[in-house]
Amino acid sequence: MMKTSTTSEYYRDKVAIVTGGASGIGLALAETMLSYGAKQVILADFNDKNLKRETERLNAAYAGKVLGLYCDVTKEEDVRGMIGKAAEFGGRIDILFNNAGGGFGGYFDKQTNEDWEKAFALNFYGALYGIRAVLPIMRKQGGGHIVDIISGIAFSPMPYQTMYSATKAALNGLTLALRYELWDENIRVTSATPGTTITAIWKGVKPPPGAQSAEQSAQTILAGVAKNERLVLGDQGDISGAKNCFHPDAAAGNDDYFLNVARRRRSGEMVV
Ligand SMILES: NC(=O)c1ccc[n+]([C@@H]2O[C@H](COP(=O)([O-])OP(=O)(O)OC[C@H]3O[C@@H](n4cnc5c(N)ncnc54)[C@H](O)[C@@H]3O)[C@@H](O)[C@H]2O)c1
Repeated sequence: MMKTSTTSEYYRDKVAIVTGGASGIGLALAETMLSYGAKQVILADFNDKNLKRETERLNAAYAGKVLGLYCDVTKEEDVRGMIGKAAEFGGRIDILFNNAGGGFGGYFDKQTNEDWEKAFALNFYGALYGIRAVLPIMRKQGGGHIVDIISGIAFSPMPYQTMYSATKAALNGLTLALRYELWDENIRVTSATPGTTITAIWKGVKPPPGAQSAEQSAQTILAGVAKNERLVLGDQGDISGAKNCFHPDAAAGNDDYFLNVARRRRSGEMVV
């Protein structure tokens, strides 16, 4: 068994990449790791403006420790190039957070194959490309940690979010299966849900009451990752979803709940 350590110790002197690191939960993961004493953090994002601003801001506080790299995670050559540059910058890559992702809501009937391909390109293949590119580096250095940011929707599939549900469930499946393929090579693999978090992902929709800050989500994720948890659950809603969603005793209750969500959403209400 690999040893666990207290949260901040786990990140001290580590080199970490965060995809989608220029905003929201990714940015909070990066900033919190720096506050825990990380050696270097690489923000990888395709939003140039946010990337430049946040890299400058973090470098002002943690001089020379932060590198911002343009990367569209839906393009494998971008991801490979970004991981190569990050390894040159840091000398190694201890942790990769595959965090870039999008919400993808809407009516199944209106979604085309192209829409589905775009959703899988971002929420599934983006992470797969990251894993594939970082593995040779982690193997060579004798270990590392890959963290895939999923969502509670991976095990509580929601009506009118079929693409988000399917892509995040697929990523969770990849992550948890791979964990045991890589375990004996000292490469840790963790799936993590942030919990309902106030970020730009909500795109003008008001996050529900009780939604937490990106900093809170980042702290919970980082604590679970430091303990090498299999599945880090970001809030109480995700804990209850993970416990109940496929439990036979909860089946009737789940039908009532999700049917009610479907009907309310169909009538135009944004229930979460
Ligand atoms: N906010 C929530 O309530 C919530 C809940 C569950 C899961 N999540 C997951 O957390 C992760 C982070 O989301 P967030 O809430 O911080 O959203 P966010 O919109 O604030 O951040 C997402 C970041 O990903 C970047 N990005 C998008 N497409 C990209 C691409 N093709 N290549 C590179 N970067 C790209 C964006 O530019 C942005 O900086 C996502 O995977 C999301 O699905 C969020």
